[in-house]
Amino acid sequence: MPLVDVLGIETSCDETAAAVVGAAGVCSDVVHSQEIHARYGGVVPELASRAHVEKVGAVVRAALDAAGLSRPEAVAATAGPGLIGAVLVGLSFAKGLAAAWDVPFVGVNHLEGHLLSPLLEGTSPQWPFLALVVSGGHTTLYLARDLGTYEVLGETRDDAAGEAFDKVARLLGLGYPGGPVVDRLATAGHPEVVDFPRPLPGDFDFSFAGLKTAVRTYLHRGGTAARPDVCASFQAAVVDCLLHRVMRAAERTGVRQVALAGGVAANSELRRRARSLDLDVFLPPVARCTDNGAMIAHAGRLHLLAGERHDLDLRARPSWAMT
Ligand code: KG4
Ligand code: ZN
Repeated sequence: MPLVDVLGIETSCDETAAAVVGAAGVCSDVVHSQEIHARYGGVVPELASRAHVEKVGAVVRAALDAAGLSRPEAVAATAGPGLIGAVLVGLSFAKGLAAAWDVPFVGVNHLEGHLLSPLLEGTSPQWPFLALVVSGGHTTLYLARDLGTYEVLGETRDDAAGEAFDKVARLLGLGYPGGPVVDRLATAGHPEVVDFPRPLPGDFDFSFAGLKTAVRTYLHRGGTAARPDVCASFQAAVVDCLLHRVMRAAERTGVRQVALAGGVAANSELRRRARSLDLDVFLPPVARCTDNGAMIAHAGRLHLLAGERHDLDLRARPSWAMT
């Protein structure tokens, strides 16, 4: 079967997203970000599930309409990892559509969706490549050998990079999600003003909890730097740690193609510094770094093209490990 258009649905956290990806790439990509969590300073799981239930139908309809489709050839949905109630909404909706349309269904690992997103548009890396997936829940450096074969070289021992951005934003009273605000403020700051630590545990692992604590300690001790300078200094420390690992992995493995993905890959300083490395760096467009349906449709499509599909009794996998 020449597979053309795949509908992808993503509801693992606080974005209700749907997209259609076909042979020519992204046909539509609709993302609804839940704003209700901002007043709580973080994602409230039960509120996320309810908001997904309210929005998923309209978001899917919008994605199909924008792609000019009434019935795609297959349906993909995030099956994990993520908030179980949130995952269940998109997964169940997707299965219902696949059953009604009588088309193949495939459950997608959210992290694999991110990891494969640099292959969706523009020049793609060739296998094998290094993949740094940096999101709100995960910070992992993979050696991606082939579709479905990913070796973990290193991962965070405590907070994820995005989590550190969110916590530091909270300490500074900047609201949630913190990454984009810290990024924006940092553009007006100087990274050398506060000398925050750059923890580098083990060979390729990461650790951001101590860095976050250093920012808290600095503020509690009455640090006088302006907020943009604190943001820029913190951000520089995160970027240094991430790229140090990438460089070391490239040296150790001899693999010179590096793909960045996940919400933190939207960070302007990380993108600028990554581009200046003496490596072949692949960055998805900013909108495709944070959670979206296109990456799920794309990952699902690649697996379907490889002859895989799931039965409709596939369960949600809130802690689905990719390796
Ligand atoms: O991939 P993502 O949308 O969701 C998860 O799978 O977690 O990543 C969300 C994370 C949040 O922690 C958010 O603060 C961070 O990505 N983020 C950023 C930026 N945009 C989003 N962090 C730094 N700079 C940004 N521009
Ligand atoms: Zn994500």
